[in-house]
Amino acid sequence: MARILIVFSSLFGANAQLAELADTTLTAAGVEVRVRRVAEVALPGDVQPSAADAPLADGADLDWADGYVFSSPSHTGLPSASIKAFIDEHHDAAVAGRFLDKTFTAMATSGFAHAGQERVVDDLNAVAAAWGCVIVPPSTANPIINKINGNPYGLSFVLEHGKLADRKLAEEAIGAHLARFAAVTAAIATLSERPAPSGQRKPPPTAADVFS
Ligand SMILES: Cc1cc2nc3c(=O)[nH]c(=O)nc-3n(C[C@H](O)[C@H](O)[C@H](O)COP(=O)(O)O)c2cc1C
Repeated sequence: MARILIVFSSLFGANAQLAELADTTLTAAGVEVRVRRVAEVALPGDVQPSAADAPLADGADLDWADGYVFSSPSHTGLPSASIKAFIDEHHDAAVAGRFLDKTFTAMATSGFAHAGQERVVDDLNAVAAAWGCVIVPPSTANPIINKINGNPYGLSFVLEHGKLADRKLAEEAIGAHLARFAAVTAAIATLSERPAPSGQRKPPPTAADVFS
């Protein structure tokens, strides 16, 4: 059974809700799922994160999974500082090749249409590329994407008054994309060696291994 980790950052609950919808779809697709939040490191004013009930993500979760769904709000046009802090915390593991060949897909929310949702997806996809993950975007071949906003690079949602504008449509989009993500992850997981219980993967091949 493929193992997928959903990591989200959320101050007001929208990304927590996306994570919940993603969990429902992936579980229905027969995937083993972990839903984890990141610690919110930069809270404006006296805001309390509304999604404090999910466990905090850690390195063991990253090692455990065959694939990742990362979900972030747009904060000043970029992924939240909190999800970036979590990502940077695991830089050494990335350099050691521990995330190589795991699948990746991004989700994002923003308050406004042209104020970050597309860019947040791009930035999360850049992290996936740096980590050596296999990015699985919804793509322009997914017709439901055009009913939301046409962003083929990840699932992104422009909120209305802080909430999903159309929950049913969001469910439909997440359902269609993540069912495919589950299938691709399961297929790729059979190709690459799964992490040992210690979380260590075999080091990536060197040039000498490949060319000798
Ligand atoms: C510090 C901060 C910066 C934000 N900057 C932007 C922004 O640049 N563009 C935008 O569309 N929305 C912006 N927003 C609104 C967030 O994108 C919105 O609150 C978020 O998507 C809701 O997700 P959440 O409920 O999971 O926290 C900002 C919100 C905060 C708290």
